[in-house]
Amino acid sequence: MKINNVVVIGSGTMGSGIAAQLCNANIPVTLLDLKTEISQKAKERIEKSRPPLLIDKSKIHGIKVGNISDDFKVVSEADWIVEAVVERIDIKHEIYDKIFKERKKDSIVSSNTSSIPISVLSEKMTEVDKKDFCITHFFNPVRYMDLLEIVKNEKTDLDKINQLQKFCEVDLGKGAIVCNDTPGFLGNRIGVYAMQVAMTEAFKMKLSIEEADAVFGRPMGIPKTGVFGLYDLIGIDLMADVLKSFIKELPEIDDFQIVAKEIPLIKKLIETGYTGRKGKGGFYRMNKDGNKKILEAINLETGEYFPTKKIDIKSEKVDLLKLINREDKYGDYAWAVISKIIKYASSLVPGITDKFNDIDEAMRLGFNWSRGPFEMLKEIGVSNFFEKIDNFENNKFLEDLSNTKDENFYGERQKYTEIETLGKIKSKALKLDKNNSAEIYRFKDFNIVEFTTKANALDYDSMDSLKNATDKPLIIINESMQFSAGVNLTYTMNFADKGDYQSIEKFVKYFQETCKELKYSKYPVVSAPSGLTLGGGFEVLVQSNFVASHTNIVVGLVETMVGLVPAGGGCKEMLWRWSQTEEAKKDPDYAPLKVFDIIGYGKTATSPVEAEPLKYLMPEDKKIMSRNSLLQVSRSILDENKDFSSPVEANFKLSGKPLKDKMVKLLEKLYNDKIILDHGMRVGTELANILSGGETTIDKILSEDDLYKLELDSFMRLIETKETQERIKHTLSTGKPLVN
Ligand code: NAI
Repeated sequence: MKINNVVVIGSGTMGSGIAAQLCNANIPVTLLDLKTEISQKAKERIEKSRPPLLIDKSKIHGIKVGNISDDFKVVSEADWIVEAVVERIDIKHEIYDKIFKERKKDSIVSSNTSSIPISVLSEKMTEVDKKDFCITHFFNPVRYMDLLEIVKNEKTDLDKINQLQKFCEVDLGKGAIVCNDTPGFLGNRIGVYAMQVAMTEAFKMKLSIEEADAVFGRPMGIPKTGVFGLYDLIGIDLMADVLKSFIKELPEIDDFQIVAKEIPLIKKLIETGYTGRKGKGGFYRMNKDGNKKILEAINLETGEYFPTKKIDIKSEKVDLLKLINREDKYGDYAWAVISKIIKYASSLVPGITDKFNDIDEAMRLGFNWSRGPFEMLKEIGVSNFFEKIDNFENNKFLEDLSNTKDENFYGERQKYTEIETLGKIKSKALKLDKNNSAEIYRFKDFNIVEFTTKANALDYDSMDSLKNATDKPLIIINESMQFSAGVNLTYTMNFADKGDYQSIEKFVKYFQETCKELKYSKYPVVSAPSGLTLGGGFEVLVQSNFVASHTNIVVGLVETMVGLVPAGGGCKEMLWRWSQTEEAKKDPDYAPLKVFDIIGYGKTATSPVEAEPLKYLMPEDKKIMSRNSLLQVSRSILDENKDFSSPVEANFKLSGKPLKDKMVKLLEKLYNDKIILDHGMRVGTELANILSGGETTIDKILSEDDLYKLELDSFMRLIETKETQERIKHTLSTGKPLVN
C-alpha cells in the first residue's frame, strides 16, 4: 500500500513536528487536536519555528487542521494515522477506539509514545486491528533528528512494517530502525543507561563533573556536552521521570535498576529548582560576579558550586584502546563506563533486536555518538576486551564471542537499510590515504574524501586530501553531522598569534589552488553536503562540478561575521552565478551588487529551497530527503557523466572604481545608521574592492586568477588587523559574532 494521505492526532511538540516532516515530503496531512484552535496554533508554531521545521515555508498549506469531534472523518481517507497525544493510556485507548471504528481497511495506525509498550497500547484492540498497529517513535525536533524507531510485536503484520519502514526511510528521510516491544525501545534504553553509568561511576570514583564530562565526551566519540552537561540540557526533573518509568517497566534483575537508583543530590537539586538549563541551573550554573558571568560546577560530594576548572585529558583524537589503558583515574573511569555499556548493550541482543549493529546506528542517529557500543568493542579489539573484562555471566553474546574470539565479528554496518550508504561502502573500499583532517577511499573507479575534523573545519591537510584525490572521479561526502563549518579558525589564529602571516597566505593560496583543481580536473567532482556547509565548506561545494545536497543543510558565506572575506573562490563563484542572470546582461553592476548584499550580510539558508534564490544552490543540484541516499545519488551522477569534460574557464567584466564607490555609499548609510561600526566599514570596503574588480575598468577582462588574487589580498589585509583577530577570538570563545 502506498502512503498518500496521513492524519496526525495530537498537535503538540511531536504531532506538529511529524506533520511538518510529512509536509516536507509533499504528503498531504491533517493535524487534529481537541479543538481546531489548538491545531491551528500548532500550524502557526510550525511556520515560526527556529530552526525551521519546514524546508519550504510556502508549502504550509499542505497541512490541514481540524478537531477530533467535527473532522474525524478524515481518518477514513488516511493510509497512515499517527497518534501523538499526551502520554496517558486512558486518552490513547479512547483515541484508538475512535480510529479503528473510522479508519479504512488496511491502513496503518501508529503511536508516537515514548514509553508505553505496544502490548498495553493495543490491549483493547481486535486481533485484526493489532496487525495494523505499531509504534513510530520519532525524536524531537522531527526534521533534524534522523532516528525513528519502529516498534513491532509478535502480532504486527511484518509486510506492513516493511512498507512503513521504506516510506519513512525514503520519503521522510529517517534512519528507520525496526525493533521489538521492550521498555524504552532501543535508543533510550541504551542511551539513558549509558548516561546513568557515566554518572554513577563518577560519583563512585570521586571524579569532578568536569572530569567526567571531559572523558565521557569527545575522547569517547560522544558529544562534548558529556553526561552532566547533557543532564542539564534535557532537564534533571525530566530525567528523573524517565528513570521512574524504566524502574517500573524493567524486571528487578535488569542491570538498569542498579544505575537508576535515586541519588540524594539529584533529589535536592530538583526540589530547589535546579532542574538544568531551563531552571536556575543544574550541575552547572551561571553565576554573576558584578558584571562578569562565571560558569560554576557543583561539587558532587558537598553540593557546593565552584568556578569550573578546564580539564584537558590530552586526548585529541578518539583512541579507545589508549583511553581505557591509561594508568590514571581517567583510564579507569573510561574502562568502567565503556565496559558496562558494552556489557549491557550486548545483553539485550536478541531481546530488543537481533541485528546488533542497529543499536550502534540508533546511538549515532539518536544520541550523536560517533560509534555505538559494538563498534567500541570492535575498535578496542575482541581479545583486548576479554583480557580486561572480569565477568560476563548470562550474556550469551559475549559468551559466544569469548569462544570464537572473532575479531571480525562485526560484519556489515547499517543492516537496517538496503541503501548502499557511505557507512557500508567504507568497509568495502580501499583506504588510500589518511591524514589528520581527512581520509581518502577508492571504491570501484572513483574516490571518496571524507573530512574527519571537529565540525569538519578545514585546514591544509583537508586541502591536501582533496588535491590528492582528483586522479579519479571524486565524491566529497561524510558521515558526521556537518559537511564543513568552514576554515579552521583556531588553526588560522595559531599562525596569526605568532605573527606568521606567511603561513596563512600559503594556506589560502593552497585552498584556492585545490578548489581550482576540483573545478577543472579531468574527472567530475561531486559534493554531497548535509548540515553546516559554511564559508570554506561552501567554497569546496561551489567549485565542485555537481552537488547532491541533503535537505537539511545550513549553507552560506559567513566570513564577514569574523571580519574576513571569502578567499577560496567564494566571491568569484557567486559573482559568476549572478552574472549569468538576465538582469546581469542588462546591467553590469547587477551581479556584484547582489553578491555584495549576500556576502556582506553573511546570509545563510537553512534548506535548498532557501538556498536557491541566493544561488548558493542551483536548480540542477540534486536535493535529497534521505541522508543515507546521498552516496547513491552522487554515484548515479558520476554514472551519468562518464563523458564529462571540465567547464570552460570563467571570466569577468567589472566596473571598478565607480562600482566600488556605489558600494561604499551603501556602507556609509549603514555606518551612519550605526548598523555597522568602524571595522564593519573596513571589511565591507574590502569586499567592495573584490566584487568591483579592484583596479579595473568595464572594458577589461578579468580571469578567475585575477579574482582569486583580489580575494587573497583583501583576506590578508584583514587578517592582519587587530579588529578581525578580536572578532575571530570572540566567535571562537562564545560562538557569537562581535560587532566592532
Ligand atoms: P504535547 O503535550 O506537546 O502535545 C500533546 C497534544 O495532544 C496537545 O496538543 C493536546 O491538546 C493533545 N491532546 C490531548 N488529548 C487529546 C485527545 N484526546 N485528542 C486529540 N488531541 C489530544 O506532547 P508531545 O511532547 O508532543 O508528546 C506526544 C507523544 O509523543 C507522547 O506520547 C510522548 O510520550 C511522545 N514523545 C514525546 C517526545 C518529546 O520530546 N516531546 C519525544 C518522543 C515521543
